[in-house]
Amino acid sequence: MEKIKVEICCGTACYLLGAEKLMNIEDMLPEECRGKVEIEARTCLDLCERENLGGAPYVRFNGSEIMDRATPERVISRILELVEGIG
Ligand code: FES
Repeated sequence: MEKIKVEICCGTACYLLGAEKLMNIEDMLPEECRGKVEIEARTCLDLCERENLGGAPYVRFNGSEIMDRATPERVISRILELVEGIG
């Protein structure tokens, strides 16, 4: 099974608006997600300019799905859905 790719934006806007809290998300993942997720920190994903600065912090799943206003809770729950094959 291919790993679920999670890119966390660590650009200035996202970092200042909360991406810092997403940095240790790997340690918060439930047991069933371990080894199934690849988490990477990225420099600016260009969404703060293209979309809207107020949407930061941004996280991208599997190269295309964007989550704005990401929080550890929301990111973990989306990872769980993806691991379970829902949505
Ligand atoms: S700083 Fe995150 S999208 Fe630009």
